Amino acid sequence: MPRARSARSDKVLILDFGSQYTQLIARRVRELGVYSEIVPGPTPLEAIRERDPSAIILSGSPASGYREAAPLPDRGLYDLGLPLLGICYGLQATAQLLGGDVAKAERREYGPATFVQERGARSPLFTGVPQRFRAWMSHGDEVRSLPAGWVKVAHTTNCTFAAARHAKQPYHLIQFHPEVVHSPYGKQVLSNFLFRIAGLEPGWSMKDFLAQAVKTIRAEVGKEGRVLCGLSGGVDSTVAATLIHRAIGERLVCVLVDHGLMRLNEAAEVARALGTEQHLNLRVVSAERRFLDKLAGVSDPERKRKIIGEEFIAVFEEEARSLGKIDFLAQGTLYPDVIESASAGFGSQVIKTHHNVGGLPERMHLKLVEPLRWLFKDEVRELGRELGLPSALVDRHPFPGPGLAVRVLGAIDEHDLDVLRHADAIFLDELRRSRWYSRTWQAFAVLLPVSTVGVKGDERSYEKVVALRAVDSVDGMTADWTRLPHALLARTASRIANEVRGVNRVVFDVTSKPPATIEWE
Ligand code: XMP
Repeated sequence: MPRARSARSDKVLILDFGSQYTQLIARRVRELGVYSEIVPGPTPLEAIRERDPSAIILSGSPASGYREAAPLPDRGLYDLGLPLLGICYGLQATAQLLGGDVAKAERREYGPATFVQERGARSPLFTGVPQRFRAWMSHGDEVRSLPAGWVKVAHTTNCTFAAARHAKQPYHLIQFHPEVVHSPYGKQVLSNFLFRIAGLEPGWSMKDFLAQAVKTIRAEVGKEGRVLCGLSGGVDSTVAATLIHRAIGERLVCVLVDHGLMRLNEAAEVARALGTEQHLNLRVVSAERRFLDKLAGVSDPERKRKIIGEEFIAVFEEEARSLGKIDFLAQGTLYPDVIESASAGFGSQVIKTHHNVGGLPERMHLKLVEPLRWLFKDEVRELGRELGLPSALVDRHPFPGPGLAVRVLGAIDEHDLDVLRHADAIFLDELRRSRWYSRTWQAFAVLLPVSTVGVKGDERSYEKVVALRAVDSVDGMTADWTRLPHALLARTASRIANEVRGVNRVVFDVTSKPPATIEWE
């Protein structure tokens, strides 16, 4: 498993009971310099032991511990003597399991609450935290009595046992969420748990991860193994390929299928950065004609996607067959995908099939190499920087697999793709110049299948409309339009309408998702 262990091989295991904040806990712990992993809440004791954790955190949950079928931790966890922190549901489930009393709260608490530490409780978890402090709560159940051997540490107006500790063991329970930004002392509390209580040492860094990942990939692939990697130019495949190349050099073969639907100069830029500068063994397959022929006259967005996906696999497979014996396929799977598929069925490791190479590993009997499966997106970016990749590759916005085919609305042709590429390049250029590129989550231009009247010089024109879209988002699931400065929009619109032949009008999309989507098709 490609992970860097800190100086003393410290690892925090987070038992996930389904809280929407579980990933945030993992993030915060890693930010504090300690490696963390998430496993399903009811993971049996043996499996927990095998992972050899240095400390354990129990997450929150939408469930009620006293209801039947609520996910509970293995009772044996409390005999391990490992430092343990129960958050929200983690507090309730612990109290419940060990003989305390948990019931529906008389008053539910959502949002900020004032915690008051009991005089004389003096928990090391709250070192550096005022006796009264604000923290964020989200719970409908509460602990009515603590199990034997536990001591009350704090209360709020509505919650008698808002924090507790074991009298002898390093076990701590809190009703609030230290991982959210609305708990100002949250980081201090987590840091107290990791360093004062568990005695861990911060040592998790991207440099260590890189060194460890290189060793792991070498062991996984062996001395002779060859790996194939589909490169899209996106952050994940770019970083995965560069990392694997660092480990096995020429035995990694990268294939970039240029479907003719990429942005201006994109294929050439990726080829230069990875092929010429990073010396990756990279093959660029120019398949524009094949894709455009298949897409001719097709206007339905879902049909466009299906055609592109199928053609992609066909081209990729043809290329792969010409490469001789290949043993592995590299994928840029990230940690959130792994957690999602793992929690869908405990123990099963469902592999996310990227539409670009769907079915290929099975058909060609390829094993998978997924060196990013322990990282979050921004950690992948950090790893990219550690590998020496330029910001232009590492910090780029998400880009859909079907590319500009879903941004030239309706049926597409080469001419319209060129018009859009030009307009899009101007928008991105203005965003970069004004330093707004990194402040918006995703931004692009769309070519509308609508002509409007304009006037250029003394002549009336009748040309296409370009729509600009810029959105703020965290994961693309919901989004709001970015409040770009008017001067930036004005400059971009003026440049597009003047410099791009065939366009005389520019509009800006001010719709959120939902009800709209980010892409227009
Ligand atoms: P929507 O338009 O669904 O987009 O709000 C959410 C995010 O997903 C990207 N997107 C795609 N990515 N293949 C992809 O790989 C697709 O077919 C596709 N459609 C949308 C979109 O760019 C945004 O980041």
